[in-house]
Amino acid sequence: MPIKTCAPKSILLVCLGNICRSPTAEEVLRQKAAVAGFSIDIDSAGTGNWHAGEHPDKRAISHAKANGYAIHKLIARQVQPEDFQKFELILAMDKQNLQDLQVIKDRLINDNPEQSEALAKLALFSEEDPIHAGEDVPDPYYGGDEAFERCIAYIESGANAWIESWKSC
Ligand code: 4NP
Repeated sequence: MPIKTCAPKSILLVCLGNICRSPTAEEVLRQKAAVAGFSIDIDSAGTGNWHAGEHPDKRAISHAKANGYAIHKLIARQVQPEDFQKFELILAMDKQNLQDLQVIKDRLINDNPEQSEALAKLALFSEEDPIHAGEDVPDPYYGGDEAFERCIAYIESGANAWIESWKSC
């Protein structure tokens, strides 16, 4: 049963490299939120820093473009502790990302227990998705065209589900 929550003011989408899944999810969610009339500050980041400063993967750019999403101008960055104060909701593209984010959040709470309630809520991107609930958004990095298309299908499905859940707020 989906959790009924209102649309958050800000969302950070997080994957490993911030060059395939999360920049795509950033743009998909931005477009779908705008169409649905939600005003949400949306950004993305990676748990790793290997690709920080780079544009998305060329294959991700091309598959996103073919599906109507322009991600070529986005620039990868690594998640920062401040993101947990800045964003209301942080959505992890897979369970490993979620675990890595939880480690950062736990450390922040340990350092300053009073701020616990003010920190971003964490969830799996697929959490509201009736088709892929609890699944990882498949990482296309080591795959081919099919993997990138499958990744976009998961992202569109997950984004639609979040939008629907906010409509019932
Ligand atoms: P992403 O994909 O987490 O969806 O951006 C990956 C990007 C880079 C690597 C792995 C996954 N990498 O190993 O460098």
